[in-house]
Amino acid sequence: MGQVIAIANPKGGVGKTTTTINLGAGLGNLKQKVLLVDLDIKANLTIGLGIERENIKKGIFDILLKEAEIKDTILNFKRFDLIPNNCFQKQALSDSHYCMEELKKHLDLLKDEYDYILIDTGPVMGVLLDMALYASDSVLIPTECQYFSYDGIKIMINKINAIQNEKTKIKENLIVEGILLTKFDNRNLFSYEMAENIKEIVANKVFKTVINYSSHLQEASSMGKDVLSFSYNSIGSREYRLLAKELLERKENN
Ligand SMILES: Nc1ncnc2c1ncn2[C@@H]1O[C@H](COP(=O)(O)OP(=O)(O)OP(=O)(O)O)[C@@H](O)[C@H]1O
Ligand SMILES: [Mg+2]
Repeated sequence: MGQVIAIANPKGGVGKTTTTINLGAGLGNLKQKVLLVDLDIKANLTIGLGIERENIKKGIFDILLKEAEIKDTILNFKRFDLIPNNCFQKQALSDSHYCMEELKKHLDLLKDEYDYILIDTGPVMGVLLDMALYASDSVLIPTECQYFSYDGIKIMINKINAIQNEKTKIKENLIVEGILLTKFDNRNLFSYEMAENIKEIVANKVFKTVINYSSHLQEASSMGKDVLSFSYNSIGSREYRLLAKELLERKENN
């Protein structure tokens, strides 16, 4: 049975989309069947995989509005599949509660086919984030090691706790999968200090793997590729492959 993980942090630019693409590729590289779902209205995940906005034929909104079958929206890549985002082609969702249930229903069914479903979310505490969280089993929170990083982590953890306390019929459980330190600047002592501070507040939830600042990760998405396909032996590729391994090992040990 597959696992649905939302990649979320209301702070912008912390590496959510980069993590969705490259963790997805890392898991695919370990022979896991992976589906990426683009739930950010900016469609950065879709575009970061080399698809031009105007070439997105069908996407997640067609599924939610019952205008397409899920299989007709899925695009295949070497190490994962993708459901693109086409929110910008559609009107706003009128019944968000209905869409929440609809997304969860579809992804629950896809858990029979995929080992991991990773949902990329945007830097907004809105309907799309709620939809992602209600459809997910856990949340991976990427964060930079900067002073204001606490806020994003705290907001996410409070939100997850609120959902856990709701115990509605559509959502029984939601856990923090882990906090991922991203864009780490290993030449800057302040980054180390901030990393230690983050570990103090969320102790055992921080992934051992740290994603260092890497130009390969930036170049890969500008070329519309995951970093394993762009430069398999680069540090960015190695770190996301290690993260995938750590995630799998955690699952086996639970
Ligand atoms: N480890 C890294 N090293 C260097 N640059 C990185 C790294 N991770 C991400 N970036 C770059 O930082 C920028 C923001 O990354 P990304 O788009 O993944 O963040 P995001 O959290 O998804 O942003 P948003 O909140 O806008 O959706 C991008 O230009 C990306 O290439
Ligand atoms: Mg993003």
